[in-house]
Amino acid sequence: MKTVFSGIQPTGKVHLGNFLGAIKNWVRLSNEKNKNYFCVVDLHSVTTHPNPKDLNSNIEQTLKLLVAAGINLNNSIIYPQSKVPQHAYLSWILSNFCQVGELQRMTQYKEKADSLGSHSGIFTYPVLMASDILIHKANEVPVGDDQTQHLELTRNIAERFNNNYGNVFPLPEKSSGKSGTRLMSLKHPEDKMSKSSDDINGTIYFDDSRDTIMKKFKSSVTDSSNVVKYDIDSKKGISNLIDIYASINDISHQEVERLFENSQYGEFKIAVGETVSDYLSPIYSDYQELEKEDLSQVLGNNLDQANDSAQETINEVNSILGL
Ligand code: TYM
Repeated sequence: MKTVFSGIQPTGKVHLGNFLGAIKNWVRLSNEKNKNYFCVVDLHSVTTHPNPKDLNSNIEQTLKLLVAAGINLNNSIIYPQSKVPQHAYLSWILSNFCQVGELQRMTQYKEKADSLGSHSGIFTYPVLMASDILIHKANEVPVGDDQTQHLELTRNIAERFNNNYGNVFPLPEKSSGKSGTRLMSLKHPEDKMSKSSDDINGTIYFDDSRDTIMKKFKSSVTDSSNVVKYDIDSKKGISNLIDIYASINDISHQEVERLFENSQYGEFKIAVGETVSDYLSPIYSDYQELEKEDLSQVLGNNLDQANDSAQETINEVNSILGL
């Protein structure tokens, strides 16, 4: 049986990129015969120095949203990272198997160091991420394309540890859907869709109303050719919309082109807006139901199970290292 691990930061509101790049695949994997761990990686969010009240409510919101998204809790464990301190413990151990030069090469570090100031938390962040993945000995990690480099580093760290101490960690593989792995801003299609985007009209949030979603799609940036054709180099905006439609409906870019070959951009934008709204609205209404419930009721003994699994790895690592 495969072990799957993935994580999401509770920094800001969950957006469509998170759903199509990651959570949609988590739901799919949770319905297969895997052991799944889906983690709200709140320790990672500390790198942005969030307001404590906001962080606390975002953690709860994100945990409940994962349940509302349809993750099958029969074979999945959903939990907040900070309640399983073994993640941070393993991070210290693994930092001794990671080169400074490797961390300096991380693209996200370079980007974030510019905007957040370069404290060492941002620098060592990928080691904590490697620990998240390795603490339950995951084989598969469903993430968007922006996390590829971090996953390669995780494999290098695991391999180095194994070379020294025997075959302790599996080398985890990245998994993703056929499309939607890198959603771009609707307003600035050269930039990734993100929680912290300067232009909120470029990002679709999980709680956007149908009206807001339609407005955002109608005003999305495209080009003047009016031909629904995927071309990532010269038609970034329309390619992004094709990607979104393809990902939600589990079809290829070519199929989207065929469906809309006689359509003008205006018509296509409405179709994409409707498909996104149809996808998000049942998730949001389930979330609103869960919002009233106590988190511990929703998640049952998930945290205990995560703790047990993590402790098993720590016991093994401690014994191997002679600690
Ligand atoms: P985070 O919180 O930024 O994003 C969570 C997931 O959403 C994906 N994603 C996107 N996919 C497609 N298009 C986009 N515009 C887009 N924006 C975000 C991300 O690829 C991710 O899969 N470092 C991670 C969190 C993390 C983690 C882990 C992930 C910490 N430890 C261990 C996997 C395994 C991050 O900041 O994701």
